[in-house]
Amino acid sequence: MGDHQLDDFPSLFSLKGKVAVVTGGSRGLGLSAASALLQAGCSKVFISSRKRSACEDACKVLNSLLPNISGKAISAPADAASIDGVRSLVEQVSKEADHVDILLANAGATWGEAFDTHPDSAFAKVMDLNVRGVFNTIREFAPLLQKRATVEDPSRVVITASVAGLGIGTIGKQATFGYSASKAAVLHLGRNLAVELGPRHITVNSICPGFFPTKMSNGLLKLSGGAEKIAEANPMKRLGRPEDIAGVVVYLTSRAGGHVNGAAIEIDGGALWARGELMEPGKAKL
Ligand SMILES: NC(=O)c1ccc[n+]([C@@H]2O[C@H](COP(=O)([O-])OP(=O)(O)OC[C@H]3O[C@@H](n4cnc5c(N)ncnc54)[C@H](OP(=O)(O)O)[C@@H]3O)[C@@H](O)[C@H]2O)c1
Repeated sequence: MGDHQLDDFPSLFSLKGKVAVVTGGSRGLGLSAASALLQAGCSKVFISSRKRSACEDACKVLNSLLPNISGKAISAPADAASIDGVRSLVEQVSKEADHVDILLANAGATWGEAFDTHPDSAFAKVMDLNVRGVFNTIREFAPLLQKRATVEDPSRVVITASVAGLGIGTIGKQATFGYSASKAAVLHLGRNLAVELGPRHITVNSICPGFFPTKMSNGLLKLSGGAEKIAEANPMKRLGRPEDIAGVVVYLTSRAGGHVNGAAIEIDGGALWARGELMEPGKAKL
């Protein structure tokens, strides 16, 4: 093939033999992503969240995807908000794998309450998991991520941020000040880490989902007028679906996404643009 030809398209999106860790993998977006990682060929996908039974149940569901998968899901319960929890997760993973190729720092929490009564404890809890926890997870996993990483085949970190970190989150009675601030912070953390870890052959990118019906978003969805109303306001006339997360995660973690670093990909059907709220770093909102 000539210099400008692609000669191995079938392997472009393959994750054959890769080892992945998904925090917040027991349900919602993390579970959708984990299911995609396994079906794209990962040999091991560690499913982590605080509740042991939730991790085990998710693994059962994922491992029943046979014969569509050749790898396996492995339960690794841990609290990503505490440094001890993160270290215990690294220890559990190290017992079953000598390296990690893909880390999805996806665990997150939110809190809705009006400005005047917005509790300090809630703000702290959200920042601890959504920002400090993400930083700790990436730092503690860096040695395992570096083990097999090369210029040709870099390891990958994907942070689940949110469009709430790009535009204005929910304000009013159920305002999500801590959440919105945490997602803006973690997006910028991702850009910093992309530059720091690039030379170690690790890419760091963020995904920014819009509304996806999950346990976390269902309450807010109701308060915002319901799924139908939110879907109607979206340029694509629907909410997010598991395949929307799956497609972007597989792209970013496969050979196809090997030169994408420090990016933040919105997965919201263009809803934020439709609201005129998308702000790009360094650009004033017109
Ligand atoms: N759904 C949306 O519309 C939406 C939009 C934008 C961004 N996001 C982001 O997507 C990510 C996943 O959210 P989701 O919507 O899928 O919510 P979800 O269904 O509530 O799932 C959250 C996951 O995180 C785990 N988790 C919570 N606290 C944890 C902790 N301290 N340590 C480890 N795991 C923890 C939960 O399991 P345990 O309870 O067992 O710990 C669960 O597996 C979050 O970062 C969220 O901010 C979601």
